[in-house]
Amino acid sequence: MRLTRREFVQSALGAGFAATLPVGFFSACSVSSKTGAVPSAFGASSVARQFAASSEIAFPKNFFWGTATAAYQIEGAWNEDGKGESVWDRFSQIPGNIKNGDTGDTACDSYHRWRDDIALMRAMNLNSYRFSISWPRIQASGSGSANSKGIDYYSRLVDALLEARIRPFVTLYHWDLPQALEVAGGWPNRDTASRFSDYVELMARVLGDRVTDWMLFNEPSVFTYSGYLIGEHAPGRKSLWDFLRATHVVNLAQGAGFRALKSARPQARVGTAFNMSACEPASDSEADKLAAQRTHAITNLWFLEPALKGRYPDAFTYLPETVMAIKPDDMDKVRAPLDFVGINLYYRTIASSPGAMERVAHAQEWLFPVRMTTGGGEQGPKTDIGWEVWPQALYDVVMRITRDYNRPVIEITESGCAYNDGPDASGKITDSHRIEYHRQYLAALARAITDGADVRGYHAWSLIDNFEWAEGFSQRFGLAYVDFKTQKRTIKGSGSWYAKVAAKNALPAT
Ligand code: FCB
Repeated sequence: MRLTRREFVQSALGAGFAATLPVGFFSACSVSSKTGAVPSAFGASSVARQFAASSEIAFPKNFFWGTATAAYQIEGAWNEDGKGESVWDRFSQIPGNIKNGDTGDTACDSYHRWRDDIALMRAMNLNSYRFSISWPRIQASGSGSANSKGIDYYSRLVDALLEARIRPFVTLYHWDLPQALEVAGGWPNRDTASRFSDYVELMARVLGDRVTDWMLFNEPSVFTYSGYLIGEHAPGRKSLWDFLRATHVVNLAQGAGFRALKSARPQARVGTAFNMSACEPASDSEADKLAAQRTHAITNLWFLEPALKGRYPDAFTYLPETVMAIKPDDMDKVRAPLDFVGINLYYRTIASSPGAMERVAHAQEWLFPVRMTTGGGEQGPKTDIGWEVWPQALYDVVMRITRDYNRPVIEITESGCAYNDGPDASGKITDSHRIEYHRQYLAALARAITDGADVRGYHAWSLIDNFEWAEGFSQRFGLAYVDFKTQKRTIKGSGSWYAKVAAKNALPAT
């Protein structure tokens, strides 16, 4: 029996929809748990293509070689100089939310040690730094006048980057919503979109004379899914209603933020860093192929298609317009002709169609009839956080976006791996797995460029080991090691390798 739309919503809301939704509903990059194992009869693309190179691979002239970080993950100084509380400041204090009870209160202390961070980037020959601005450092409660000390911090950082000939590549929202706005309803509240565009305009005015390249959001599908549906990230809510509405309000905010930035700084280049994943069917069956299409729509396109085409992609069996509170003019408001598509990519996702029994057991599968993996498949090697290394995924996604969106400008805004190698007796950190990861993903990217993709830069996640959300400090992604007791930074083997790649603008032969 097929449920009507109203019956579905009632049963989903009433029966704890969130609790029964497949864990891999979105490609939640920061979730290490893995569920929903699928059969091993993968489609054709599951055969790992080798991206080894017998000769050097050159990258396009003026290619951006960068690293990425985010304010809450590195800055610390959570209540200094007039900074307000963010949802992550609040969430991380609650026992049980973060592994080992870690918090970002101090993190890498980059609020005080940013000069050290820039020195690392100089030593790595980098020419782009993707960092985020902490909204509550600028507006303590998410609205009103700006905190001049917060502005000064980012202003100094930008000046020093320019001085070091490193492009400041600024993310305006990397998950740290001012807690006061969460109290007022958070992302499900339409008013948050207006608060966001006011904040964007403010930042465009104060930094836009020196910053030209901006990202409005980092991974909108991850923070709405993990924060409002499954509650593993701040603010820790578990509600289908809140989640669906939050996705729509974020789309409205993306449109409004885009217009605010462009009206303040018409020359600015504006994008968003989307989390993306190559969505493969678990088998060649039509049902699994359809599941993979739905997965692609929800994971990769839910915030891109509204921006570029003014519509939601076909992820669900129907669009729950009423639940999402979509108003008549909204699909014009969500439009944002982005200047570039930022792609964060770590792994692929394998999708299959749930069996009849599962569909009967879980009413929500009438809306989203898909089982999907989180953290990749089972064929490639695994990083320490449990994610599968699968460079082909980067090639596939870049090529698909290139094909489907008329060859947009693409920036790889994040890719990287957790390996927890520490210093040996002489203090050296030999992280050869990380070198191998970036080498292979970069080779896959180079192939996509050869095949026609317009890719302008690659940002390794991350510059330094940092606070990995619900995983706390247990997962190290940095090209430089951080001793969290002394805050001493040491460039790892991978950082030295990346420095050579950046200096030559080419991947060495293997
Ligand atoms: C991404 C996040 C980033 C970092 C990496 C590992 O999902 O954007 O902040 O945590 O995963």
